[in-house]
Amino acid sequence: MALRLGDTAPDFTADTTQGSVSFHDWKGDSWAILFSHPKDFTPVCTTELGTVAKLKPEWDKRNVKPIGLSVDPVDSHISWEGDIEETQGQAVNFPMIADPDRTVADLYDMIHPNASDTMTVRSVFVIDPANKVRLILTYPASTGRNFDELLRVIDSLQLTDGYKVATPANWKDGDDVIVVPALSDEEATERFPKGFKKLKPYLRITPQPNR
Ligand code: BEZ
Repeated sequence: MALRLGDTAPDFTADTTQGSVSFHDWKGDSWAILFSHPKDFTPVCTTELGTVAKLKPEWDKRNVKPIGLSVDPVDSHISWEGDIEETQGQAVNFPMIADPDRTVADLYDMIHPNASDTMTVRSVFVIDPANKVRLILTYPASTGRNFDELLRVIDSLQLTDGYKVATPANWKDGDDVIVVPALSDEEATERFPKGFKKLKPYLRITPQPNR
């Protein structure tokens, strides 16, 4: 059955460009972003991997470890990394899983046979320190992912794990947030000393509490 939010991310051991990785051990108590790309030596994927590598300071700031995957073998990944550095101006600085027998792709349902029965689609899983799946996205092969959006979601997850708030449409770090409906006005007054605006009983806005 396909993975759903809140499920434990399946563990696996696989060859990667940085040696053998046992996923849960490698991840430890960090967050992780596990993402598949359809194929090595393809143009959109080349830009994606360069982008993820350039964002290293942003992943580090949030305690997130990126790890990529395609069904191509490790020697192909390693040879492709040279092209990525040359064309994107950035060396790949995270492991890429080689999954020629599709073990991991099947575990995470990354092959969608009606799109392609040989290539993984562009799946993304955000996995939290307790190994729970917190976000699942699937993009088509023709559309490169927006990794700034993934950082934005991780900011939201990390904030809302710590405070009784939710984040509105198009929220970004520093913007006002929403007090969760489960809190009474009295509890909200206690928890949010900067106060809140009550637009409706279910829609109360407060400044981001950790700012
Ligand atoms: C690409 O990464 O450029 C790509 C891969 C598979 C199909 C189409 C594009």
